[in-house]
Parts: sequence; structure tokens; C-alpha cells
Amino acid sequence: MEEFIEIHQVDEAADAISRQISVPPQVGLILGSGLGAAADLVENAAVIPFESIPNWPVSTIGGHPGKIIIGNLVNVPVMVMQGRVHYYEGYSMSQVTMPIRVMQRIGIRTLFVTNAAGAINPAFMPGDVMLIQDHIGLVSMAGMNPLRGPNMDEFGVRFPDMSQPYHRGLMDLARQVAIEKDIPLQQGVYAGLAGPSFETPADLRFLRIIGADAVGMSTVPEVIVANHGKMAVLGLSGISNKANLDGSTVTTHEEVLAAGSLIVPKLQELILGVLQKYNRQP
Ligand code: HPA
Repeated sequence: MEEFIEIHQVDEAADAISRQISVPPQVGLILGSGLGAAADLVENAAVIPFESIPNWPVSTIGGHPGKIIIGNLVNVPVMVMQGRVHYYEGYSMSQVTMPIRVMQRIGIRTLFVTNAAGAINPAFMPGDVMLIQDHIGLVSMAGMNPLRGPNMDEFGVRFPDMSQPYHRGLMDLARQVAIEKDIPLQQGVYAGLAGPSFETPADLRFLRIIGADAVGMSTVPEVIVANHGKMAVLGLSGISNKANLDGSTVTTHEEVLAAGSLIVPKLQELILGVLQKYNRQP
């Protein structure tokens, strides 16, 4: 595969999906590691395996069953991605974020993105959900920005603003839902790394000093591309483990997946609550 995806590849995928649905989805939802069960509530679901969509990047690891589920959540037409690919799998940043381009081409203007993350903030516990208020894009800052390469003028400008990467109105809705439904909701800054190795204790102390509350291996590229295409983004991290700032504990992928079962019910309530309020907006 080429490093940079082209508009005709995006359109081939968008057409393949559009042919299988009757109502165009309004909200895109990406479910991260161990969080796929959050799609169980989608009604009238059309299921499209990633492998059946032209040019779609297919994940290679456990815990990431790859399919799109299109249907309704509280009467909002949604397109759910159960699984995603990561940079560490060998895909280029342009390929990693290709699904966001497809969503934009289908007409989706709102993105809910979730991930599993390690807690750097000592107040966070496994099983918590964190509203992502902002992110630190260490990989994109270092040059692996998904917008590197020819600008796709169809979607946005060469130098997009990133002053509000996560939409303030959607963040407010999430906070309201958390209060109304009594769901504990942490808030903070997500640091996006490339992985696949977990961080060393010194990496984690560095991340804490620069202002990160949680750390993971996804989300930042997708949010950059979403902002480039003028989508409103809501980000939620499921805290799967405490990051190991003093080297006294070990982090495993199994632990990350296991925490999903604690996180999914809260995530479902938050997502449904936000969609319900979103639906009532003019
Ligand atoms: N570090 C990086 N990525 C992660 C972690 C972590 O501790 N937990 C889940 N994803």
C-alpha cells in the first residue's frame, strides 16, 4: 500500500458502505481495545466486516474485531467502528486515519472516539472513564502527522486550527450526563504515543511532568484528521491500568482488555445520554 491514501480510494470505500445502508449516519463512533461490546445496543444493525470494504485498513491484533455496525442508538443514525488499526501495526498515518475520511465523505459531522488508556494521574483507577479535554500528540509533533503529504483540499485547509480539538458543547453534554446519571467521570489530557511497547517508568514521569493524565497508542491521529475535516469530536478514555511510574508493576495487553468489562457499561450510558441530548438540539 502507498503511504498516502487518495480521494478515489476514500470514495470507493464510502460508496461500498453507502450501498448497504438506507439512512445516512450522523455520528461516527470508534470503539477502542476491549470496548467493542459498547456496540451491542445498536438497533436495526447492518454489519459490514472491514475486510469487505475496499482500501479499508484491517487490524492484526486480538481485542480488535474489525467491523462496522450501522444502525440507530436512541434514534440517532450512527456508524460504529468496532476496532481500529494503529500506527504500530505498520500502517501509515494516512492509512490509520482513512476511516475518518470515509466518515466525512459519507456526511458524518460528529465523531465519538474511545480508547483504552493507562492512568498517569494518580487519582485515576482502572475502570474509570476520562473525558478527554485535550491531547498531547507526541507522535504528530515529531513529524508523523496524519496530514503530512499532499493536502486533501476536499476536506480542509493545509494548516488547520487545533485550538479546540475536542468540542466544548459535546464535553458539556458529557459532563451533564455524568451528573444526571451519577456516572463518575474523570477529565484530563490524553498523551498519544506510537507503542507497541508500553512506557518505561522514566517515560511515564516525563509524561506526567508535561501535563498528561492518561496515555495510549491511538486517537490523536484520528482527532487531527477529524478536526481537519471540521468534525465535532467527543473523546472518552477507558482507564484500563495504572501506569507504572516507579517500575513496581507490570502492564499487559490482557489487563487492558479485561478492564473493558468494567468500563463498557459506563461508556454505554455516557454515549447514549450524550446522543439523547444531542438529538434534542436544534
Ligand atoms: N500505556 C499505553 N497505552 C495503553 C496503556 C498504557 O499503560 N493502557 C492501555 N493502553
